[in-house]
Amino acid sequence: MRHCPLALVFSMLAGIAPLAAFAANPADEDLIKRGEYLAKVGDCAACHTAENGAAFAGGFPMLTPIGRIYSSNITPDAETGIGTWSFEDFSNGVRKGTSKRGYTLYPAMPYPSYSRLTDDDTRALYAYFMHGVAPVKSPNRKSDIHWPLSVRFPLSIWRVVFAPKPQPFVKGQGTAEIERGAYLVEGLGHCGACHTPRALTMQEKALDDRDNTLYLSGGFVVDDWMVPSLRNENGGGLAQWTVADIVALLKEGRNQNTATFGGMNDVIVHSTQYMTDADLNAIALYLKQLSPHDTKAKPYQRDDTVAKALYNGVASGRGAQLYVDRCAGCHRSDGAGYAKAFPALAGNPMLQTDGQAAIRIVLAGGAQPATDTAPSTLTMAPYAAIMNDEQIADVVSFIQTSWGNQGPSVTARQVAKLRKSIVPLPVPAQ
Ligand code: HEC
Ligand code: HEC
Ligand code: HEC
Repeated sequence: MRHCPLALVFSMLAGIAPLAAFAANPADEDLIKRGEYLAKVGDCAACHTAENGAAFAGGFPMLTPIGRIYSSNITPDAETGIGTWSFEDFSNGVRKGTSKRGYTLYPAMPYPSYSRLTDDDTRALYAYFMHGVAPVKSPNRKSDIHWPLSVRFPLSIWRVVFAPKPQPFVKGQGTAEIERGAYLVEGLGHCGACHTPRALTMQEKALDDRDNTLYLSGGFVVDDWMVPSLRNENGGGLAQWTVADIVALLKEGRNQNTATFGGMNDVIVHSTQYMTDADLNAIALYLKQLSPHDTKAKPYQRDDTVAKALYNGVASGRGAQLYVDRCAGCHRSDGAGYAKAFPALAGNPMLQTDGQAAIRIVLAGGAQPATDTAPSTLTMAPYAAIMNDEQIADVVSFIQTSWGNQGPSVTARQVAKLRKSIVPLPVPAQ
């Protein structure tokens, strides 16, 4: 560490937090500030700060296929946190998934992505967690995973076989901006943790675009949300979006085409809204140059037949009638919505995919995330209590197949199945 030991001793004698010691040295203060920014980019708080809990004191429950586990206390408390960890210990935890406590971490901690962090950035993070975060005494909670799965030994095997050795970030991926985007997306941003499909053994099928085009091709299910592709492809991907659309979504949780919901809301609220415009632009430029994984999907082509029929009062079919009665008030008869308030359904990437995501949002409703630049949270109420399985299947089939959308129709059985697991938003239905 580069702080002045005398200042530290003085602050300890005076009972001042170590942060004060750092404040004396502008170089260290800059390092801590940079670490604070990087902790936001890495979204450490999303998992390490529990609801209504102290910052980074852990205890946040995460459901995994094998049981419930709890994130760790990563405040600098010497006894229950990581206060006694050296830089080496910290780097091993974050980049290799091995704890100073002598075990392999569950891969719910996204260290396969963090393994790409540069030494410089890891040092900045370390400085922040040691000196910019308040120590909190809060012992780690044991997982609710039962023996024998709770034995961490097989995890070490998992790590050796599937998780990469700390991979230095590979340079030469394009212009400086695209390269910055790749570094953020593959590494700290850990976008692939949700947006890349996983194998049965839980590892992501690709950790970067050089592995193969499965990287960020979508399909991993988080809380019953089908996570969309972030590649520049038709179908469920970002082919229809401009760089500015992507930047707006990551900053405000909405753009002229869509608004986010579910797991992506948390990512925006805790992480991407704080990224600089330059970093968001770099991410968007990087995503826009990813070649298609799905090479068969056709580009979206607007088709006005349904819009004209609805406009002329001809709603043929149960799905169309339900849409006019219940949905068109916000999403409009031409499916164009109202920019940044009510998402467009015509051409929406979600409605070019299997229909699970659309069923889910109609059943459970959705709320836009509140961000600093867009604090209003327009909601769509849940329809679970006021529409039966057939009706929801009819209206979802209608929006999946109208205005040129290419998604398949869905069945009442699919709706019945999802109905069992979703929790509707606590908002009264219109
Ligand atoms: C997606 C959730 C998630 C994110 C994001 C995340 N962590 Fe973790 N982290 C966890 C979980 C869960 C554990 C505990 C794993 C276990 O007990 O096996 C953990 C453990 C750790 C540990 C080991 C602590 C110990 O006592 O062994 C460190 C250090 C750590 N995380 C640092 C970070 C940092 C720094 C960031 C941000 C750059 C971060 N984590 C982001 C979920 C996350
Ligand atoms: C915790 C899981 C998770 C992580 C991590 C995550 N996302 Fe997402 N993302 C989702 C889910 C779920 C959706 C679908 C909901 C939606 O579209 O709002 C989504 C949707 C999106 C969309 C909208 C796509 C569309 O077709 O509507 C974009 C763009 C996006 N994510 C970008 C990113 C980027 C960039 C990162 C990394 C910085 C990232 N995501 C990290 C879960 C995640
Ligand atoms: C009161 C206005 C309102 C009504 C009525 C309404 N919606 Fe929505 N809808 C919204 C808002 C706001 C969102 C964005 C929610 C979010 O970001 O979580 C949304 C999101 C959606 C989405 C996801 C699109 C995306 O990109 O976020 C679909 C699909 C959808 N609505 C379909 C429907 C259907 C089908 C109906 C009728 C059964 C309906 N909506 C009725 C306001 C409405």
